[in-house]
Amino acid sequence: MSNRTFTMVKPDAVANGYEGAILEKITAAGFRLVALKKTRLSPESAGAFYAVHRERPFYGELVEFMSSGPIIAAILEKDNAVADFRTLIGATDPAKADEGTIRKLYAESLGRNAVHGSDSDENARIEGDFFFSGLERF
Ligand code: PPS
Repeated sequence: MSNRTFTMVKPDAVANGYEGAILEKITAAGFRLVALKKTRLSPESAGAFYAVHRERPFYGELVEFMSSGPIIAAILEKDNAVADFRTLIGATDPAKADEGTIRKLYAESLGRNAVHGSDSDENARIEGDFFFSGLERF
């Protein structure tokens, strides 16, 4: 099992001023910030990042949203990182997320759900590599 995961603070949460509160919650939960950057995805790069979902009905909406404003991308480290981070952020739909989770606290809706968290060790590696070079991860 890997001890790293990948996250993005999505455009809704950055625009709503929640980036500091979300990063604080992540580090308070015991995740170390291995790499961190604020950037903005182009429609092409958002489309590539979410290519695995290209056949799903919400793909166009997801790509448009994720390229609509700045995001924060980060690689995080902790024992059991992928599973523990998904517990911390809560269900994809904030209406179904547990109390106290990041999505319950800060997400607007299913489509604008404040944070991304990798769903497997393999995807955590792929997604971290998408944003960060080897020199940026230590
Ligand atoms: S998950 O977390 O991968 O199991 O969730 P999943 O339901 O497969 O959703 C994959 C990503 O698509 C986003 N999503 C949506 N965007 C817009 N509209 C609708 N209806 C919608 N449903 C799901 C969801 O937030 C996931 O994005 P990430 O960045 O992976 O969390």
